[in-house]
Amino acid sequence: MDCSHIQFCLDKSKINLEQLHKLLQIGAFWAKNRSIEGLSIAIANSNPVVTVWAQSLLIGFARATSDGIYRAAIWDVVIHPDYRGCGLGVKLVETVLTHPQVSKVERVYLTTTNQQSFYERIGFQRNDTTTMVLYNNSPIETIYQQRIKLKADGEISQGYDFKI
Ligand SMILES: CC(C)(COP(=O)(O)OP(=O)(O)OC[C@H]1O[C@@H](n2cnc3c(N)ncnc32)[C@H](O)[C@@H]1OP(=O)(O)O)[C@@H](O)C(=O)NCCC(=O)NCCS
Repeated sequence: MDCSHIQFCLDKSKINLEQLHKLLQIGAFWAKNRSIEGLSIAIANSNPVVTVWAQSLLIGFARATSDGIYRAAIWDVVIHPDYRGCGLGVKLVETVLTHPQVSKVERVYLTTTNQQSFYERIGFQRNDTTTMVLYNNSPIETIYQQRIKLKADGEISQGYDFKI
């Protein structure tokens, strides 16, 4: 695969949500059921958001959340299956890591089910002992759907201004 024509982009406004939805369905098993609306919220609240393009085709994606000084986390790293193995994955993660919102923080976390070796090549260390997770009973897709319904019913006028 000739990857010389590939471009990396940090501009969130360029992201085509339909293409991103499709890319995640093809290449990211954990994100297959995400909605366009949910992805839009995730992007709005992430920085940086990095996309990878083969001309007008979205072939890679990664995003981070960060407090700007102590902690950051990288999420949803994916390269389209047809474009894997030519260095784009490493470049994608490095683009996130060198962004000021991530490069200046003390620790950068990520979770991965089976790509530990890939991340070790970039400098990450295995960290089996410190991570915990809360499976929230009202995940974002549910919250978003509730919000849409409440809005449609005229019960709220804006944003997340309601109790669950
Ligand atoms: C993980 C992923 C992003 C890697 O993208 P990629 O473009 O194929 O990676 P690269 O071509 O940059 O790989 C760089 C090097 O890592 C190696 N590598 C890639 N995936 C690897 C893996 N799972 N385990 C070990 N090494 C791996 C490559 O062989 C390459 O080695 P080389 O430099 O000696 O040639 C891609 O496989 C992917 O999208 N997977 C599905 C989604 C996923 O699991 N994302 C991570 C979730 S946290």
